[in-house]
Amino acid sequence: MPLNILVTGANGYIGSHVTIELLDAGHNVIGLDNLSNSHKSSLTQVEALTSKSVIQNEADITDRDSLERVFAMNKIDAVVHCAGLKAVGESQEQGERYHNVNVKGTRNLLDIMEKFGVKKIVFSSSATVYGRQKEMPIKETAVLPEKADSNYGQNKIDIEKMLMAKNQADNQWRVFILRYFNPIGAHQSGDVGESPKGRANNLLPAILEVVAGKRAHLDIYTGYSTASGTGERDYIHISDLARGHLRAIEQMQKTKGVHIYNLGTGQPYSVIEVVSSFEMVTGVKIVTRNKGPRSGDVDSCYADPSKANKELNWTAKYSLTDMIRDLWNWYQKHPDGYDSDHDSDTTDS
Ligand code: NAD
Ligand code: WQD
Repeated sequence: MPLNILVTGANGYIGSHVTIELLDAGHNVIGLDNLSNSHKSSLTQVEALTSKSVIQNEADITDRDSLERVFAMNKIDAVVHCAGLKAVGESQEQGERYHNVNVKGTRNLLDIMEKFGVKKIVFSSSATVYGRQKEMPIKETAVLPEKADSNYGQNKIDIEKMLMAKNQADNQWRVFILRYFNPIGAHQSGDVGESPKGRANNLLPAILEVVAGKRAHLDIYTGYSTASGTGERDYIHISDLARGHLRAIEQMQKTKGVHIYNLGTGQPYSVIEVVSSFEMVTGVKIVTRNKGPRSGDVDSCYADPSKANKELNWTAKYSLTDMIRDLWNWYQKHPDGYDSDHDSDTTDS
């Protein structure tokens, strides 16, 4: 049965890909975004690709009135909550802003959901909640640190606790917490992808900035306790990640309670492997420079995805080569991201 699903942060990198999966599966999507880190045209592309329309709301999760209007105007069955601020470094400088948007914004959302009797939520959490773990791969049962390494990580831990408390107070709440590992790549069409505003911090966007001549070289952070001395991560194709949300929404119709899932492939890659894979797939040489370790970075972080494999009937199917191929396709079609699509984002939003 088609559901009406509110996707917060629908214009963003993850929200736009989740929207594609939900629409393709026959659900209706109500989008909500304040466009602080995204573009209107991301959903225009999604609509063109799926031949479906999305009800778009320019609203801010920190503004209860605007949130309430969205719930009053639309019948909503469940929420996929992707809206938020996500730059780890920035969260250290702007702790209050991050708490306000991520934690208080989520509290607003939960309050309004309750008011309208909507008690089903899928939440975008992060592997960052695990902090430094000794055991790899990481299982969902790993004990989380008392205090996270960053304000951003702390926000995610606090929100997870808030969601669990909701269910404890009222067992009608169905909560699916998805802990993402490192999503990369773009939709296979090459028309929907990652297009953040501002300078890139993550590895693949940084590589693309080297390709574009926006930076002279890629800094490779080294000095970690791994075979190559560079960090090891569990990169996952954005479309695999997005499909995990669809499976969570489907499972949620059948299962009560709080459920936590890792979304990763279970396969770690070093920075060296990612760069050489990028060079092999694209034929473009990346100029690199070795640097010391980046503050706050963990050496290695990869998932045990077996719980999601089993309970959500979900498995990541794309390889690192696929991820880079689709990223490259997106980059070639939209070298400046959605900025090159000449929409009216900056003038009328
Ligand atoms: P994104 O910045 O592309 O998307 C977030 C969206 O939220 C943006 O469209 C932004 O405009 C919107 N937004 C921000 N503040 C808002 C507010 N106050 N009200 C309404 N909308 C607001 O980032 P993303 O990569 O798509 O991340 C989505 C979620 O997934 C975030 O919660 C992020 O923390 C989480 N996450 C991302 C990654 C990753 O590597 N991309 C990894 C783990 C978890
Ligand atoms: C990947 C690897 C770096 C940039 C961050 C957040 C995490 C999550 C995803 C939201 C690491 C190395 C990177 C560069 C490099 N986001 N690197 N040169 O650090 O795993 O996770 O994004 O939840 O919370 O912390 O991702 O892409 O920044 O780094 O050598 O210029 O690439 O050391 O090993 P990370 P990343």
